[in-house]
Amino acid sequence: MTVTRVLTGITTSGIPHLGNYVGAIRPTVAASRAPGTQNFYFLADMHALIKVQDPAKVQRSTLEIAASWLACGLEPDNDRVWFYRQSEIVEIPELTWFLTCVAGKGILNRAHAYKAAVDKNRADDQDDDFGITAGLFMYPVLMAADILVFNAHKVPVGRDQVQHIEMARDFAQRFNHLYGDHLVLPEAAIEEHVATLPGLDGRKMSKSYDNTIPLFCSREQLKKLIFSIVTDSRAPGEPKDTEGSALFQLYQAFASAEETAAMREAYAQGIGWGDAKQKLFERIDAELSPMRERYEALMAQPEKIEKMLREGAQVARERHGLPLMQRLREAVGFRDLSQLSPASKPEKEKTASLPQLKQYRETDGRFYFKLTSDAGETLLQSVGFDNPKDAGAWVARFRREGAAALDASAEAFAAVDPAAAAALDALKAAEDAKASAKAG
Ligand code: TRP
Repeated sequence: MTVTRVLTGITTSGIPHLGNYVGAIRPTVAASRAPGTQNFYFLADMHALIKVQDPAKVQRSTLEIAASWLACGLEPDNDRVWFYRQSEIVEIPELTWFLTCVAGKGILNRAHAYKAAVDKNRADDQDDDFGITAGLFMYPVLMAADILVFNAHKVPVGRDQVQHIEMARDFAQRFNHLYGDHLVLPEAAIEEHVATLPGLDGRKMSKSYDNTIPLFCSREQLKKLIFSIVTDSRAPGEPKDTEGSALFQLYQAFASAEETAAMREAYAQGIGWGDAKQKLFERIDAELSPMRERYEALMAQPEKIEKMLREGAQVARERHGLPLMQRLREAVGFRDLSQLSPASKPEKEKTASLPQLKQYRETDGRFYFKLTSDAGETLLQSVGFDNPKDAGAWVARFRREGAAALDASAEAFAAVDPAAAAALDALKAAEDAKASAKAG
């Protein structure tokens, strides 16, 4: 059976809210159990450095996000499910550099996040580059390395990330073109039927709208937030619309089909907003409370999480990252120097193992040629010529004709060794091979 490798990164900034849970954590944890898959989930702490430059926050957020995913049911076994910190996979920065050297700068110029930053600078009458780090610019290359280092086939992401996956494919293709088929071209997997959750004010739940419900706040806090969800002014007893009701959409995201149908009926029957909110609170709390308990237990034992992440990184590197990078280092030419293959030796050394015909001028002012064996002994020594062209004509004729030219040339030689004939034929054969290689 062929295994599909699924990989996704989790940015470690901020704490997860219900929207993250319904839109990403819950479906991803469920997908990690699919047969025929290997799942690589990692905390993208190197990406986080681009935005978060407060070390305490980086550390805290990494712990909270890791605890959240584990509390929500992720079960790393270092065989089918992997969970690790990006910063521990030291092959990632190395691969990032290999990819940087094939990535077109023009492609990076078009990355959405970078372009948005430039556009904002222009709108603010700032220099294009104002406040933009090379880290933001290079974001897509680092992300490509995350994916390619484990030769992932599928990358579940939101729509905003599709461009990054396309770039990863592009860099992988360029690398393969230069160095051979080493990298798998990844595909984005977009979850079409996962709901986006409305926030407290009815707009999409998002940190940037400040309308979120944290995934692991206390029961009391959860209740308070749910009771603050904006509703219309219909009184109890008045029928209510499910369409466009944030409360209803939130309920639907947690309830079974039967529970949802019952709530729809209650809306039609004019359930009061207070009662509807109480039902919503109870339904969400029923799903969250066992996870909240696990979350709190995990947060109380950070050393457990630390150990789990380290093991995940270590085994993932040993089994996947290291062997791949060994092949890639070899492919780009970072090779054992003592293993330099004869095929790649420069031209000069190749011909050194053949007999040589050389023209030269002596101190008497005359022009000579001589044939030397591959071991360097003189096999044939010409007489001196007044005109270099005469010497050259003989050399050309020997190259063309080999030993066959010897008979016609007695007067040209001062000395001929019996081994000269074989040497000249070897020389001719090499010349013929060169000519036909050129022609072919
Ligand atoms: N850029 C992704 C996000 O913001 C996070 C991420 C980093 C990622 N590396 C990745 C996602 C590799 C998928 C694959 O959500």
